[in-house]
Amino acid sequence: MNGIAVKPPSGRGRFITFEGGEGSGKSTQIRKLAERLDAARLKTIVTREPGGSPGAEIMRHLVLSGMGKLLGPDAETLLFAAARDDHVRSVIQPALNQGTWVLCDRFSDSTRAYQGSLGSVPAGLINAMQRVTIGDLKPDLTIILDLPVEVGLQRAAARRGKDAPDRFEAEDLQFHRNLREAYRKIAADDPERCVLVDADADPDTVAGRVWSALRDHIFAAAIPAQPA
Ligand code: TYD
Repeated sequence: MNGIAVKPPSGRGRFITFEGGEGSGKSTQIRKLAERLDAARLKTIVTREPGGSPGAEIMRHLVLSGMGKLLGPDAETLLFAAARDDHVRSVIQPALNQGTWVLCDRFSDSTRAYQGSLGSVPAGLINAMQRVTIGDLKPDLTIILDLPVEVGLQRAAARRGKDAPDRFEAEDLQFHRNLREAYRKIAADDPERCVLVDADADPDTVAGRVWSALRDHIFAAAIPAQPA
């Protein structure tokens, strides 16, 4: 990394979510960011969705096995919501309250992209579920890792080896193209919270881009403006 001096903000922890299509490198980038924040002596936890708490991990197993698909898109959305509710209440909110930084691999934008834009679940249902599960909890920053779908799917296949693709990896190429567009729209609609990061590069280069996003959106905001 490029050794930028930053002044860590104090008080409540910060909530940073990572989003992106299959094989976009979220877990690698989260690990690198966690190492960097640890080195800056910021207490940090890494978690993921669906899952992240014992109850939510059970839901994870259900949805990724394809069971949710059998129930239909609305019910599948409710399963993701139930998992998120448990995860927020038992892990994310308590950690933030204690001043811990929370890095989460996927969060509510995944529901908006996968179930909303691609699954055609009505926005009304998604908004209602969001109110119940996360209320006012909004990520301080959402990093959306963006790369051509062919590159992402190749990476995901290489990582998987001989294992069968999961419920969403198994969708066709057009699904993944639409997913990329859905994420780009989420980023364009909420530029205060979201940063679209070009992830078609080596991991250290992408990590540098992620760190720049933190510098601009989190650390800069924590430094009071200089009087004129
Ligand atoms: P995972 O194996 O964690 O994949 P990835 O490495 O791509 O994050 O599987 C999570 C899958 O669940 C992923 O394909 C996206 C999907 N998902 C939804 O459809 N809706 C959601 O709300 C969440 C959190 C995930």
